Amino acid sequence: RLKKEKNAVILAHNYMTPDIFQLVGDFRGDSLQLAREAANVDADIIVQAGVHFMAETSKILAPEKTVLIPDTRAGCSLAASITGADVRLIKEKFPNYPVVTYVNCTAEVKAECHITCTSSNAAQVVEAIAAEWNTDTVILVPDQYLAKNVAAQTGIRVMTWPGACEVHEMFSADDVEQLREAHPGVVILAPPECPPDVLEAADFAGSTSALANYVAEESPNKVVLLTECSMSDNVASANPNVNFIRPCNLCPHMKRITLPKILDSLCEMKEEILVDPAIADRARLAVERMVNLKH
Ligand code: 13P
Ligand code: SF4
Repeated sequence: RLKKEKNAVILAHNYMTPDIFQLVGDFRGDSLQLAREAANVDADIIVQAGVHFMAETSKILAPEKTVLIPDTRAGCSLAASITGADVRLIKEKFPNYPVVTYVNCTAEVKAECHITCTSSNAAQVVEAIAAEWNTDTVILVPDQYLAKNVAAQTGIRVMTWPGACEVHEMFSADDVEQLREAHPGVVILAPPECPPDVLEAADFAGSTSALANYVAEESPNKVVLLTECSMSDNVASANPNVNFIRPCNLCPHMKRITLPKILDSLCEMKEEILVDPAIADRARLAVERMVNLKH
């Protein structure tokens, strides 16, 4: 009722708990899908059921809309690892290489970079910008593992930054081996924010939505999603025939977003995300370059 009264939509990331994801989310998906929805949706208010950088991305792409986040403390270890000043220094030192940033960063960092990427299109973005700049070297910040995995996938030299996702860096190739021993025949899926040896040992790598699509299309008998815990809950309810084995890590930032806080957010119109228009204009160029890439 409140959503209708206020012409509001809730954008729910795949890592939201099922009560949010399945009951109140109007649009669900990975960070790229949610960014596309923010740009296109016909609504006055967006409630971002996700973390702070995602709400900033929505505001950058939809500056005329009111963007709310139910808890401003919902951060991200990757976004906290790098500043706009860091990127300026990188560009000074390496002026001939394009700088790509994973969207998991502040608006200020996006404003300093040539293009953004998400885990679903990182390889495609790196290939496109390397061709555009006619270079064999691309800088991809701030996720060192995503960068290494993209380098392995594309053969392009990728320089990086020592940031990591605190959820995915916890998984190891040993975990994969132990899971295979304990559950013969299990299919193991992992996102590219995991260390490279984890991806080598896994059966398939992709963004959160790519993992969900894999389960829906392949219907494996037994599956492990080496990622945030709510992901298995959400994918499991859409695939009742698949047996989910659930080692997982909680993202403390995503888990700050709860159903009661979403209700408060809509009732009291808080907390509004504002991005300095000068920064937003530059950041929008980097995000739109990504969003407009053919897929
Ligand atoms: P995607 O939604 O792009 O797969 O990213 C996962 C993530 O960790 C976002 O915080
Ligand atoms: Fe950041 Fe990792 Fe949490 Fe996503 S899961 S918000 S990348 S810390």
